Amino acid sequence: MAGAAVDDPVADAMAAAVDFLADLAETAASTADDEHKVARFADEFYRFRQPTRTFVFPEIAEPIVIEQRYLAVADTGGAVYDAAVVLAQCLCRGGPEIGGPVRGKHVVDIGTGTALTAIVAAKLGAASVAATDGDRTAVELAARNVGANGWPQPNATVSVHRFVWGHYDDSPFTRRLRDAPEATDLFLAADLIHDNSMYPVLLEMFGVLLPPRHTAGRLLMCYPTRCAPVEEAFLVSLREQGGFVVTRLDVAPWQTSTMALPINLICLTRPRPAPV
Ligand SMILES: C[S@@+](CC[C@H](N)C(=O)[O-])C[C@H]1O[C@@H](n2cnc3c(N)ncnc32)[C@H](O)[C@@H]1O
Repeated sequence: MAGAAVDDPVADAMAAAVDFLADLAETAASTADDEHKVARFADEFYRFRQPTRTFVFPEIAEPIVIEQRYLAVADTGGAVYDAAVVLAQCLCRGGPEIGGPVRGKHVVDIGTGTALTAIVAAKLGAASVAATDGDRTAVELAARNVGANGWPQPNATVSVHRFVWGHYDDSPFTRRLRDAPEATDLFLAADLIHDNSMYPVLLEMFGVLLPPRHTAGRLLMCYPTRCAPVEEAFLVSLREQGGFVVTRLDVAPWQTSTMALPINLICLTRPRPAPV
């Protein structure tokens, strides 16, 4: 129905943006490499616009259907980012580099957005999963996705919380994060380092979630290379100021040619005390 499209300003804006990207690909791309990059961004934009996306992982019996609200969510959490897809696949493999299978672990997903990574952890048999985000509209979307994929009511196993990085209010959840971080085995952080003004907050928060005494804990930080020198400097500060062991994990099995940017997967741990 033609009228429906005309009355949909979001669809109009999206169509205009896609046209813009296509024009950019034709006129601005000076090399085949540029053209490839612009085409990948257009693909990503197309994926973000889909109202739902279905993810199938061989380790999980049923498909995971994720509702996206790319423009309706106030911050960036309305779509599934490639880093979340790579991190989800790493969780499915559950190799020794992430401390083995997710089954039985207590997991907290920071900046969960649509909650894909939290849902994957829960489907893999985590003992508990807390999906968290600072943006209220993302929290609502995460809760809907968690509900639609098997946990319609919050329970002890899967829960969704509003948590703004570095803000520890008096809610039992944030108190536990701050006061008993050892209760969490695995922290997930997919595509959270795109804004370098947040690096001091992230550095401080990672230090609270993974204090030096929590030598059994891991934080998996997955992100695309948007500005390598800036991101590398953040890794240096995690090592030098934060005192973390920073280990780069191999993403080759999960990086695909349709992803807009190269993906990085970093595991943060605390040095284990030397045996006496
Ligand atoms: C690029 S999205 C990534 C979402 C999801 N992890 C993924 O990869 O699909 C970044 C997420 O971090 C959240 N976020 C940004 N700043 C935050 C803050 N200061 N406190 C809590 N969450 C924040 C946003 O709301 C958004 O959901």
